[in-house]
Amino acid sequence: MSDNNSASDCGSMSDNNGANGLAARAEAVSAAAEQTRSATEARALAGVEPIPGVAKPDPILIVDNVSRYFGGLRAISVDHLEVQRGAITALIGPNGAGKTTFFNVLTGFDSADSGSWRFEGVPLQSLPAYKVARLGLVRTFQLTKALMRLTALENLMLGATGQRGERFFPALLKPLWSGQERKIAERADRLLNGFSLTRMRDEFAGTLSGGQRKLLEMARALMVEPTMVMLDEPMAGVNPALTQSLLGHVRELRDNGMTIVLVEHDMDVVMGISDWIVCFADGELIAEGRPDDIRANPAVIDAYLGTSRTTENSSEPNDHEDKK
Ligand SMILES: Nc1ncnc2c1ncn2[C@@H]1O[C@H](COP(=O)(O)OP(=O)(O)OP(=O)(O)O)[C@@H](O)[C@H]1O
Ligand SMILES: [Mg+2]
Repeated sequence: MSDNNSASDCGSMSDNNGANGLAARAEAVSAAAEQTRSATEARALAGVEPIPGVAKPDPILIVDNVSRYFGGLRAISVDHLEVQRGAITALIGPNGAGKTTFFNVLTGFDSADSGSWRFEGVPLQSLPAYKVARLGLVRTFQLTKALMRLTALENLMLGATGQRGERFFPALLKPLWSGQERKIAERADRLLNGFSLTRMRDEFAGTLSGGQRKLLEMARALMVEPTMVMLDEPMAGVNPALTQSLLGHVRELRDNGMTIVLVEHDMDVVMGISDWIVCFADGELIAEGRPDDIRANPAVIDAYLGTSRTTENSSEPNDHEDKK
């Protein structure tokens, strides 16, 4: 439908359809604008100096002086880090560098010993994980946390927030929540389809392979329509064909305006997908920059690229037999 015949289109439809058509077009225009904005945000990193703690043109997350100790062990100690909105940032570093601890602390799954961090200008340091998620920042886990005795579809539907049927009195009146539940199910089905899981829709999550559970977890994170996702080794254990489709999804999410931070050990993946790379070693931020800066950075080579860590020895079971 072109823009200049919208009046006749509206005339030939019911008012409701006409309004829906206009709403759909408005949504498409705003999605296109969002896409352009996102590409611009990612490109904005082109002029940023590759220096640890450097300011970003449009940071969505700002971290200051965050530390976490386990007994005498310093798991993280980060002075300053900014995450650019609408970009894909990879967090790399050798085993035990503190990447997962950093994710846990920022998303409210663990407490920091010190520090502050703001997401969209909102201080998060005293918020529990569910409130952080409600603000639009969600994460996935290195070791998947699917509910094994629920189906793939049910796992996704549980991921949606603000469901009316969860409250006691509304739960007694089905008409109050059935429409919303249908919409949630439709969204879940779209995500299952997007992550090649439609065939597993009604199977228990416990029967999914390790890789499929990774995909399910990412789909579940997206049920809340977050502004920013933090993915802890999303590709580990996923077979190569699905890895490509997963990477496609990550790019698509970025192109639609989402901010993505991902932990990944496969350097080909990291170099191929990232707009910006942050490197941790021994809990500290030792380098950040564009892929070419990081590839040539002696501190990174010394701390990380010199060590032969690949997805093979990841903590998630490899499942190159994802055949279902
Ligand atoms: N709950 C805990 N109790 C004690 N030590 C912990 C705990 N969690 C993490 N650590 C330690 O903190 C350090 C950072 O661990 P973390 O899991 O954050 O590293 P990582 O960069 O995610 O490593 P990997 O690449 O292997 O996943 C490690 O030395 C680890 O042993
Ligand atoms: Mg980890």
